[in-house]
Amino acid sequence: CGIAGYIGIKPAKEILLDSLSRLEYRGYDSCGIAVRGSPLTIFKGTSRVGHLRLQSPELGGTIGIGHTRWATHGEVSAANAHPHTDCHHKIAVVHNGIISNYRELRKLLKDEGHTFRSETDSEVLPHLVEKFYRGDIESALRQALGLIEGTYAVLAVTEHEDRVVAARNGSPLVVGVCSDGFIFASDVLGIGAQAESIVYLEDGDIAICDKRQIKITNEGKTVQRIPSSVHLNALMIEKGGFEHYMLKEINEQPEVVRACLRAYSDPPRFRNQLIFDSTTDSLTLTACGTSYHAAEVGKFIIEELTGIPVRLEIASEIRHRPTIIKTAKAIGLSQSGETADVLTSLKRMKEAGIETIALTNVFQSSISRIADDTIYIPAGPEVAVAATKTFVAQIIALIKLALAHQSVDRTMRDQINLELERIPHKIQQILDNRHLIKQATSLVAAADQVFFIAKGVNVPIALEGALKAKEIAYINAEGFCAGELKHGPFALLSPSSTVIAIIAGDENQASITASVREIQARKSKVVCITRENDSTFNDSTDNILRIPSTHRLLSPILNAVVVQLLAYYTAEARGCPIDFPRNLAKSVTVE
Ligand code: G6P
Repeated sequence: CGIAGYIGIKPAKEILLDSLSRLEYRGYDSCGIAVRGSPLTIFKGTSRVGHLRLQSPELGGTIGIGHTRWATHGEVSAANAHPHTDCHHKIAVVHNGIISNYRELRKLLKDEGHTFRSETDSEVLPHLVEKFYRGDIESALRQALGLIEGTYAVLAVTEHEDRVVAARNGSPLVVGVCSDGFIFASDVLGIGAQAESIVYLEDGDIAICDKRQIKITNEGKTVQRIPSSVHLNALMIEKGGFEHYMLKEINEQPEVVRACLRAYSDPPRFRNQLIFDSTTDSLTLTACGTSYHAAEVGKFIIEELTGIPVRLEIASEIRHRPTIIKTAKAIGLSQSGETADVLTSLKRMKEAGIETIALTNVFQSSISRIADDTIYIPAGPEVAVAATKTFVAQIIALIKLALAHQSVDRTMRDQINLELERIPHKIQQILDNRHLIKQATSLVAAADQVFFIAKGVNVPIALEGALKAKEIAYINAEGFCAGELKHGPFALLSPSSTVIAIIAGDENQASITASVREIQARKSKVVCITRENDSTFNDSTDNILRIPSTHRLLSPILNAVVVQLLAYYTAEARGCPIDFPRNLAKSVTVE
């Protein structure tokens, strides 16, 4: 979910809606705003922010809060949308997080005569604030939070006071200091480009803000949080002429790779050598979703280049059994830095004595607060729910991490470094020929089921291609190691299936060629993604996508761009809402 707030001299409504539209990627089942006036005006519903904008009338109030929801407790309905209010609609609250003891609190409040209107855990908050309210919203929220177990980023306003109160514990919350007031948001994207500086609230902070100043306390004591300068510019958070954020972000990849290469050539800044030095004899990588696939590529490359065994763990699984991990170091990969399963697994590993490192795209995100050290990927804000440029950036970071290890053969290191410099140009060549990929999508969009197959270092790209096809094109797609097809999935092959074969021209060429032939014998359609000089499949498959040759270990980067575009154009052909796929959210901050 995303939360937003404003207090200042401008009408709050437009600022809140602008902020929420930039936060929609965090959840878009429903949304709502509360603007202070007498009475407090609330607009909410199951529409997207754009629709809410059209529905809501002009409001003069200059204080307000808003929310965009990804449903956890309770169905998608107007009643379950935030803001939630107390019995008399005088206090409004928005919340991101989970209140684990909400059932007990709800019962207590009901016994005291409070009436609930939603099924959410969050609704206990305005009722608790009402219970404690004696003319001071800060004090009432503080007492309410004293009874809460769980995580929260909360904003509250009341009809009676010219103030906004904010609190953070386990869910992110930032404050933008602007010339005309203060903007609150779940992340810097929500603040936008107009803030002069950003204050990152810490866990336990409660901030009380009037139109002129902000006061932050933690455990009852006033604390100073040093404002950071703002890194965002308006271009970074707009679509820049592209139809979708996803296409914009795919097209940014040559520049993202260049930014990574610049950043990681400066080891003191990114600490590569320190993190992965000669004393490191084993490593664990943990992540979810697309970041997990980047970790899989990383495992292959680190093991091959350094000989160091790498353990790979799905964060939602390992969080429950961290003590079985025996490695000295663990890296948690999370683009957003907020994925609850990754945060918990890293926290548990740290408690078990493992040195933890975060690999994230978001400055000061929760993961960087948990981990002992952080490597940032300089990919810039990623808005589309389906991760693309951050995936490629994570892979580059892990390659550079491996190359920094002293055991890597010098010639190999030089070869890979040289070839890395050529990768931006080669990605650009793929982007320039994207119409060819678009043509191939008819075979994907019309198929009953789609299989992505690969071998070696490209197996994670087969999995990622299938994930992308599921996420944004709602295609029934699966990724497999090519050799595993014949041990089960072959039973599903039919003339209405399409198989995308990723062929890297490495030691697996003969084996994956045999798989393609076996698939063709079962009359399924085959699309080959192969190198420009590979003549193996000339005229024998339904479509061949030829891409520039590169070093075997870097081939996942180029193949990733192809499967991203394949999913993108398939989703476009099927009329899917590409940037905001149904039931998903970009950062999943709950278990
Ligand atoms: C969500 C997103 C995925 C993403 C995953 C992990 O499920 O929809 O695109 O890969 O979270 O996100 P993270 O921010 O931890 O990399």
